[in-house]
Amino acid sequence: MNHKINIAIDGTSGVGKSTIADIVAQKLDMTHLDTGAMYRCVAYYLVSNHVDIQDSTALEKALHDIHIRFDDKVVYLNDVDVSKAIRTNEISMATSKVAALEPVRKKMVALQQEIAKEKGYILDGRDICTVVLPDAEVKIFMSASPSARADRRYKEYINQGIDADYDEILHDIEQRDYQDSHRAISPLKKAEDATEIDTSNMGIQQVVEAVLKLIPVDA
Ligand code: DC
Repeated sequence: MNHKINIAIDGTSGVGKSTIADIVAQKLDMTHLDTGAMYRCVAYYLVSNHVDIQDSTALEKALHDIHIRFDDKVVYLNDVDVSKAIRTNEISMATSKVAALEPVRKKMVALQQEIAKEKGYILDGRDICTVVLPDAEVKIFMSASPSARADRRYKEYINQGIDADYDEILHDIEQRDYQDSHRAISPLKKAEDATEIDTSNMGIQQVVEAVLKLIPVDA
């Protein structure tokens, strides 16, 4: 494993950060940490256990009881495989709300910093370049227009044989963009020193190449 650098990738929902981070991690012998999946696990736990998020004691207890583990691409929440369950639309919307809570962010950021300490990680999320790893050797902000992202998501669903409504997908994307970039704590924004890659008109391979060009030659 490459222990010399960390790569931080931020960007909006559905921009393809995870797909790109996975491919780049494989090429560079690094480990991809999907921080969105961590917030999704927290939301899934809170929803499943009917935790009242306004009740700070209940929230603290829940956070204490949540244990997240990754094994390759499988996500375990308290030893149960939740990889699929955390990807539903209901959980996506709930996660966007849960990720705005200070105690949740505090715990997730600390965990992510602890994991990335030894280097060799690609983290993707919303606050990686700005808060989690401001000193990462490579900092990237991935963007794409809402319609380009809705288009990709729509095609993904159709290819999987899942019924989909384009307008609903676009609406959800716009709503999550708004929530993620207008929250009080760690809103999604491009770090000043991050390189922006607008992927609206790029294929996966082109984005991977653009990311690889940013890696220092001696890394
Ligand atoms: O990347 P994703 O769609 O799986 O993220 C799910 C939600 O979690 C999204 O609404 C934004 C939030 N999130 C966050 O606030 N900070 C991160 N580092 C990663 C995700």
